[in-house]
Amino acid sequence: MFLKRSADSIIIHSPAKLNLFLELLGKRSDGFHELETIMAAINVFDTLRLTATDDTQLTLSCQFAPGAIAAAAHDDADALLGDLPAGPENLVYRAVDLVRKTAGIERGAKIELVKRIPAASGLGGASSDAAAALVAADIVWKLGWSRAKLSELAAQLGSDIPFFLHAGLLGSGLAMCRGRGEIIEPLRITRRMHFVVVRPPGGLSTAAVFRQCTIPSEPLAARDLCESLQSGSTADIGRRIHNRLTEPSRELSTEIDRLTSSMLRAGAISSQMSGSGSACFALCKDARHARSVAAKLQSQRLGVVFTASNCGVQWN
Ligand code: C5P
Repeated sequence: MFLKRSADSIIIHSPAKLNLFLELLGKRSDGFHELETIMAAINVFDTLRLTATDDTQLTLSCQFAPGAIAAAAHDDADALLGDLPAGPENLVYRAVDLVRKTAGIERGAKIELVKRIPAASGLGGASSDAAAALVAADIVWKLGWSRAKLSELAAQLGSDIPFFLHAGLLGSGLAMCRGRGEIIEPLRITRRMHFVVVRPPGGLSTAAVFRQCTIPSEPLAARDLCESLQSGSTADIGRRIHNRLTEPSRELSTEIDRLTSSMLRAGAISSQMSGSGSACFALCKDARHARSVAAKLQSQRLGVVFTASNCGVQWN
């Protein structure tokens, strides 16, 4: 996240993420799944502006960035980028409201959200926006809460949100996440990777994908990928990228196989789905290679196509 502040208003650019590794370790009694995942913040951002108001109302307006709609090639932008709920059903609204309730204050705020990260994609857009909203509310209302306290609130709202609070600590935006995703271990790795991300016309519901999943009898460990990220070649990384949720997602969407094989045909070193889908990413050699793979995929009209790199993000 990157911050810009004025007296009563703050603007935060909140990043998307890719899951470079995701393994299921078990099902918990609370219905969530125990997992091990390596997440990478990437340099595609939504923009959240939060302004303190004199009344007690919370208002939220959402719009797609003009560029995002252009990236959707003027097709059905809703189908490609997802719905934009503007009330309490939006995590951003719930995040700001949770800060108010926890602080016991009755202040109002105007929240403006500009979306570039497609929804229902496994790219963490809603979670990242919610993390930005927690940080923004804390700053605008001068609460001075610790990162630990914000992370606790973040975990109440969703499993991926704490990652985005911690991503601010990291040079390369990489972290190992465990538990249901909320226990974060920053990875001190400086490698920069180059990706092409494609979001097909249909999104996938995280809950629906998890409902279909099977816990493997011999789960893979993230350790090998960590070693490759530290000192291996891009090809080593490509071989170790893994996502156990691909299996259930493929049952729900025929787009996943189509995208990952199109990426390999376009010359990607490796291709995989991110999170619970439906977006997939191609690992490329360098920025130039990524641009060339993206151009090939763009011409096939597979969905929204963009290039991205992992990046550290800073929010204070
Ligand atoms: O925490 P979040 O709101 O992102 O989760 C959405 C849904 O995904 C949960 O309601 C749950 O069904 C599923 N989930 C899971 N195990 C996780 C994370 C999410 O089963 N570790």
